[in-house]
Amino acid sequence: MKRIAILTSGGDAPGMNAAIRAVVRTAIYNNIEIYGVKMGYNGLINGDIFKMELSSVADIIHRGGTILGTARSDEFMTDEGKQKALESLRKNGIEGVVVIGGDGSMRGALSLHKLGVKTISIPATIDNDLGYTDYTIGFMTALETVADAISRLRDTSSAHGRANIVEVMGRNCGDIALYSGLAGGAETIFVPEELVNIDELVSKAISGIKRGKRHHIIVVAEGSTDTYRLRDVFEERTGIETRVTVLGHVQRGGTPTVFDRILGSRMGYEAVVLLKDGESGLSLGMKANEIFKSDIEDALSKEKIFNSKMLDIARILSI
Ligand code: F6P
Repeated sequence: MKRIAILTSGGDAPGMNAAIRAVVRTAIYNNIEIYGVKMGYNGLINGDIFKMELSSVADIIHRGGTILGTARSDEFMTDEGKQKALESLRKNGIEGVVVIGGDGSMRGALSLHKLGVKTISIPATIDNDLGYTDYTIGFMTALETVADAISRLRDTSSAHGRANIVEVMGRNCGDIALYSGLAGGAETIFVPEELVNIDELVSKAISGIKRGKRHHIIVVAEGSTDTYRLRDVFEERTGIETRVTVLGHVQRGGTPTVFDRILGSRMGYEAVVLLKDGESGLSLGMKANEIFKSDIEDALSKEKIFNSKMLDIARILSI
């Protein structure tokens, strides 16, 4: 393998830059030329490809976002788009591609592999919604951001004697809500995977007030319920003044945690080693602190198991 390319695709996730850096430096270390593709699969389609050097990735390991830019490409879903992407790769003499992103990006990587391009994917999304790996790049950093927000909201919640509802991202996955809710000591956590009994929520809030509790934090995963409707019902039934904070894209930014930098570095390194060995159609994952490879198809079909035990623990600890 003489020449490979790298792209980031889908929603950005902190730690993507650490992975890009690792791919670029490992490639150059192995005398493989490395090309950066701008704006995800759109950059492949438009030929927005440039040669990267050691210095291209200097001073980025601690930065959020992605220096390559990212996009969700509708065009790459079409046969025509894929053909244009293939043409760009051929024109630039690129034999292998590393794709960094979430499940949609992995599906794109699988298409490239099926079209004969050696492709390795690295899981990066704040959602942690992939069943085959314990963690995705960006998840831990998003958790720090949410936990910090919860701590701040707790101050104002106690000061006013209010309830504060925090809506977090995650699409159909409740991991951001679950982990940050546990870490933030939230009274109740709403996730798409398990229903919350509203009567229990109400009686818990009322008994909390009776015990002199001045704060009440509810974490809501965006895919679980209508947050503003929940606020109305909660306020009406408890009589507690309630405010909603939708954290939104704040969760996607910021300097990556040590965990995400290390995960990105380890996976970026392994991706290049796999391409160098002539492998393709694989996605990297992490289990029990080991980086492993899986067929992309198997990885995508692996059901995400929700950690109900953790939700129980959060419930018990917030009585
Ligand atoms: O997949 C990452 C994510 O941040 C989800 O949590 C969220 O639902 C979605 O992306 C938001 O997408 P966009 O950045 O396109 O608004």
